[in-house]
Amino acid sequence: MSLPASPVAPPEAPPQDPSSLPPGPSLLDRYREVRGFTLELTRGLAPEDQVVQSMEDVSPTKWHLAHTSWFWEVFVLEPHLEGYQALDPEYHFLFNSYYVQAGERHCRAQRGWLSRPTVAQVLDYRAHVDRGMNELLAGPTEGDLRELVELGLNHEQQHQELILTDLKHVFGVNPLRPAFRPGSPGPAGHAAHLAAPAAPAAPGPGPRLAPLGFVTFDGGVHEIGLPHAGRLPSPEASFSYDNEGPVHRRFIEPFALADRLVTNAEYLAFLDDGGYRRPELWMSAGWAARLAHGWTEPFYWEERDSQWWSFTLGGMRPLHPDEPVVHLTWYEADAYARWAGARLPREDEWEMAARAALAAGVPLDGNLADAGRFHPAPAPPHADPGGAGARTGAGTPGPATLRQLFGDCWEWTSSDYAAYPGYRPAPGAVGEYNGKFMTGQYVLRGGSCATSRSHLRITYRNFFPPDAAWQFTGLRLARD
Ligand SMILES: [Fe+2]
Repeated sequence: MSLPASPVAPPEAPPQDPSSLPPGPSLLDRYREVRGFTLELTRGLAPEDQVVQSMEDVSPTKWHLAHTSWFWEVFVLEPHLEGYQALDPEYHFLFNSYYVQAGERHCRAQRGWLSRPTVAQVLDYRAHVDRGMNELLAGPTEGDLRELVELGLNHEQQHQELILTDLKHVFGVNPLRPAFRPGSPGPAGHAAHLAAPAAPAAPGPGPRLAPLGFVTFDGGVHEIGLPHAGRLPSPEASFSYDNEGPVHRRFIEPFALADRLVTNAEYLAFLDDGGYRRPELWMSAGWAARLAHGWTEPFYWEERDSQWWSFTLGGMRPLHPDEPVVHLTWYEADAYARWAGARLPREDEWEMAARAALAAGVPLDGNLADAGRFHPAPAPPHADPGGAGARTGAGTPGPATLRQLFGDCWEWTSSDYAAYPGYRPAPGAVGEYNGKFMTGQYVLRGGSCATSRSHLRITYRNFFPPDAAWQFTGLRLARD
């Protein structure tokens, strides 16, 4: 094993007047649900688990618990709840992440130095913020306040995903390879790596997994992005980040998109064919990164006694051939695609295909955090191989055959993370949320097994630098 920051347009449905929609859970109910899920993720963790910063990109769980509370305090409670008093004004310095307009902040690389406040004190801070939010959300919440609360909920959900991926890294660099959730997604235990696997995984696709297929799409002008992105109320989505808009037109050439993610077995064939020894398959910067970091296999893979194992949130497990390959850098995903005679999809192609899939009946759902598996799963069989949308008139696979679009792992695209035409970040510190990161990163689409269903849309644009591998990142092939 070698060691090395996110928004869906409803398909073709006509806009609905929000006032005609049935009432959903109240903001207060949703606040309690989201905050509760954050704490649920820390169930069973010892305080020692929650203070480790295993690399600069990783933040301790305790920091995530505090920073999400800081976000509510600074952006919602202090400007909107009369009489609110911060529990400790020094927390403003400690738990600001990157909001320059919100004041000075503690160094990111030194979050693991903070033995104080203790985990118990941070939980007291969360309870203090929750009391303020309960008082605030008992009153009217319209306009700017509602937008801020929606932003705070989605911000906390992003940090839930980071809690999972950061904990995976913390446990993954521990020689004991502890399990975050023993038993999920499969046989594992505190020291499972010490025992021989009962049934070592054999390379090659399993019998249930159909060969990779491609769905073809005609070219043309297509609308990409979400109207009213970042603004509420919106008839299109209960929430969106500002970077998902404005909606704009793109001319897309004809292309084909794979009907599922690339699997471990397929990636192993790249490895066995010398993929990590052939610079011609790699971007120059990618090859330099491979050499500099000593990458010889995907992050979290380990070879033991001629068998490949991978570290999961359930502990060490024999590599499952049919599960999607995950924890790839952009460089690795790009090199694999080239080796496979294909390429990474562009984000507009991915979004166009996802809209077509939704219109053909594919649900915006999948192996997401709600399922509690916290690891990618093999592609399910085609639910309705002969059904409407599964085949086009010419007998070729249609968009209904696209699987794993949502959940399992974020899909690297070949698209630079850049502003859509007409994009303007929001004024003030919250405008720093997305816009200032639009350089040197690639867009990922589709969510992962650590993303909550209520956090995901087809227009959601996640973004990471090309050498990042600690998120649940994989790939789907595309062809011209
Ligand atoms: Fe944050």
